[in-house]
Amino acid sequence: MASLFNIARSGAARSSLRAVAAPRVAAAARMAAPGSATAMRNTFVTWAPSSEPKLSEIQKNPGMPPSTENIGVDAILRENPADGDTHTTTIFSEFSLEGKTACVTGGNGGLGLEMALAFVEAGAHVYAVDVPEQPSEEFKIVAEHCRIMNRDLKYISASVTNDEEINAVMEFIVKDSGTDSMDVCVAAAGILGTYDALDYPVEDFKKIFDVNTTGVFLTARAAARMMHKQKDVHGSIILIASMSGSIVNRDHHWVAYNASKSAVLQMGRNLAAEWGPKNIRVNTISPGHIRTRMTSVYLDANPHLLTKWSTSNPLGRLGRSAEMRGVAVWLASSASSFCNGSDIVVSGGHQIW
Ligand SMILES: NC(=O)c1ccc[n+]([C@@H]2O[C@H](COP(=O)([O-])OP(=O)(O)OC[C@H]3O[C@@H](n4cnc5c(N)ncnc54)[C@H](O)[C@@H]3O)[C@@H](O)[C@H]2O)c1
Repeated sequence: MASLFNIARSGAARSSLRAVAAPRVAAAARMAAPGSATAMRNTFVTWAPSSEPKLSEIQKNPGMPPSTENIGVDAILRENPADGDTHTTTIFSEFSLEGKTACVTGGNGGLGLEMALAFVEAGAHVYAVDVPEQPSEEFKIVAEHCRIMNRDLKYISASVTNDEEINAVMEFIVKDSGTDSMDVCVAAAGILGTYDALDYPVEDFKKIFDVNTTGVFLTARAAARMMHKQKDVHGSIILIASMSGSIVNRDHHWVAYNASKSAVLQMGRNLAAEWGPKNIRVNTISPGHIRTRMTSVYLDANPHLLTKWSTSNPLGRLGRSAEMRGVAVWLASSASSFCNGSDIVVSGGHQIW
C-alpha cells in the first residue's frame, strides 16, 4: 500500500521493518530535515512499499554473476573436452547485480529513478536518496512494481550537500540492506540554472557547484568509505556528468552548470586514479538531451527547443530516460570490470558535429 510506510532503524534486521501510518513518518522526517543543523544522525526514515511480494513466474532475477574463471575463451580452453562442456556462463549473467547493494542519489525521478529500477531488475537492493521528505508518486508506483521481483527499492530523504548526513546515509544503507556491503553508487543528483554570465548571481553560481560538484564528491567519497571497509571490495561508482561538461550548449547561458559538469569529468579521473588500487572503479556518464523534469522546464517554456535539440544529433531526437539503463547496469556490473576512469557519452552523437 502506497499509503503505508516502513520505518527502518540503523542496525535493525530487514525483517523487523515496521509499517506505520504516514503521519508518523512525516513527523520523523521533519525532525531530521536534510540540510538542517540537526541533520547529523545515524537513523533514517526510509519509504518502501509494504505490499507482499508477488514473484512473477515470467520475470526472474538474473542469478549470481559468474566467477572470473568461468568467463570467456580462456575458460573454454581450460576445460577438458572429454569431460563435456561445463562452461555455463552467458554474457548476460555478467551484467547481474544479484545480491549487491546500490545507492542512487537524485533517485526520486528522472534519470536517477530509471537507473535505480534497472539495478533492481538486475538483482540489487537499491536505495534512492533525494531531497523531498517523501518520494514522488512516480517513485511509489515504481517501488510497488519492484515488489513483483521481491526486491527493495527504498527511498531516503537527505541532501548530497551535507557531508555528515550523506556519510550517515551510506552507513545506514549498508546495515539496512542486510548485505553488509555497498557495491554500487550513482551520483545523479543535480540542478540546472541559467543566467547571463555578466549578471550571474554568485549565490546561484555557488549553489550549482554545491550540488553538482561538491555533492557528487561527497556522495562518491561516502560510498567509497563504505566499500573500502569491506573485505572483498569490488566497488563501482558512477558519476553523472553531462555532454555539457565537454561542449557548450549553443545559445544556452549555462556557465555554472557546464563548468560544474566539467569538474565532475575531471573528478571522475582523479578518483579513478586514487581508488583504482583499492578495487573501486570510478567512471562517468555524459548524457545528452533527455526529457526529464530538469529539461522539461526549458522545453515547455520554449517549444522551439524540441526541434532544435532533436536536430542537434544525427539520430534526430531527444534521448529517453530508459536509454540510461543499459549503460548504467554495464558500468555497475562486472561486465565492465576493466573500465575505470572512462567517460561514456550517451548523446545520440551530439558532439560529433
Ligand atoms: N536530462 C538531461 O538531459 C541531462 C543531460 C545531461 C546530464 N543530466 C544529469 O543527469 C542527472 C539527473 O538529472 P535529471 O535529468 O534526471 O533531472 P531531475 O531533475 O529529474 O533529477 C535530478 C534529481 O536530483 C535531485 N537533487 C537536487 N539537489 C539534490 C540534493 N542536494 N540532494 C539530493 N538530491 C538532489 C532532485 O530533487 C532531482 O530528483 C543530473 O546530474 C543532470 O545534471 C541530465
